[in-house]
Amino acid sequence: PTEKGWVANHFHQYQGFWHTTRQLQGLLACQKHFQAEDGDIYLVTTPKSGSTWLKAMMFALVHRVSFPDPKQHPLLTNNPHALVPFLEHEYIGKEFLDFTNFTFPRLFSTHLPLVSLPKSVNSSNCKLVYLCRNPKDTFVSLWHFTNKLRPENWGANSLEETFDKFCRGVSLYGPFWDHVLGYWKESLERSQRVFFLRYEEMKNEPKIHLRRLSEFLGCPFSLEEENNGVLDEILELCSFENLSNLEVNKIGMLPSGEKHEAFFRRGEVGDSMNFLTAEMLEKMDMITEQKFHGSGLKL
Ligand code: A3P
Repeated sequence: PTEKGWVANHFHQYQGFWHTTRQLQGLLACQKHFQAEDGDIYLVTTPKSGSTWLKAMMFALVHRVSFPDPKQHPLLTNNPHALVPFLEHEYIGKEFLDFTNFTFPRLFSTHLPLVSLPKSVNSSNCKLVYLCRNPKDTFVSLWHFTNKLRPENWGANSLEETFDKFCRGVSLYGPFWDHVLGYWKESLERSQRVFFLRYEEMKNEPKIHLRRLSEFLGCPFSLEEENNGVLDEILELCSFENLSNLEVNKIGMLPSGEKHEAFFRRGEVGDSMNFLTAEMLEKMDMITEQKFHGSGLKL
C-alpha cells in the first residue's frame, strides 16, 4: 500500500512498516547486500528517539581507550551521524559499501524494524542497543523535524493531520508501537543480545545507564576509570548543551540532505505538553496502553 507522506514523498508499507521511497530503496539494498560481522554493535531507534545522542555516547564509550583526551575527541569535530552512519541510508543508490576504515567493534545505527533487519545481523554474534522514547514526545519531535525538512514556502504540516496519521501508524518507520514492541520482546527473549533503553531513564539517571551499557557491551568501566571521572567526561561531552553548541553540529548536513542542526531542538522530557491538546495526549496514552497491553512495557 502507498500513502502520501509528510515531505515531498510517498509512504510505502513493507513488512508491516511505512517507509519513504528512498528509505525503502536503502532498506532493500541493505537487506540484499549488507554482511554483519561478529562483534558489530547496532544502535536501533525510531526517528527522534535520541539517535544522535545515543550515537555520540556509544562512540565515546566503545572507543574511549583510543581517544582518552576529551579536548581532542573526534566528537568535537565530527557530527555523530558521520561517526556512526545509518546503515540503510548508506545503501541508498548503492550496492557495495566500503567498511574497511571502520575500527573494531563496528558501530552502525538503523531505524529498521526488527523484522526488516538484514538476515546476517540475526545470524551473527553481534549486539543491539535499542533506544526508545515516549510516543508523545517522539511525535512532537518528529513533527518539528519534518517541518524543518519542508521547503519554506510550503508552510508547516498540519499538526492535527500529522497526529492522526501517526496514531494510525503512518509515520517514518511506523507504526511506532509495533517497532518498539518488536525490540522489547526480543530484549526479553535474548537479553544478552538486545539492550532495551528509554530516553527518559537515560535523561534521569545517565550515569547508571551508561555503566549498564558498558557492562552489556563487554567494556565495563574499571575502578580507575570510575575514580578518574571517565563516565562524567563522556556524559558531559555528549550532553545536549555541549553537542548542540559545537560548530560542527551547527553547520553542514548529512549526505541524505538533513541539516545537522535539525537534530538538536530542546532535548527535554515532556515537551509534547506544550504542543498537544489534552485530548491528543489522552488519545496517545490510550493507544499506548492498548498496544502494550500484556507486554509488560510502559512508556
Ligand atoms: P526534541 O525534538 O524533543 O528536542 P534523533 O537524534 O533520534 O533524531 O532525536 C532527536 C531528538 O533528540 C530531539 O528531541 C533532540 O533535541 C534530542 N537530542 C539531540 N541530542 C541530544 C542529547 N545530546 N541529549 C538529549 N537529547 C538530545
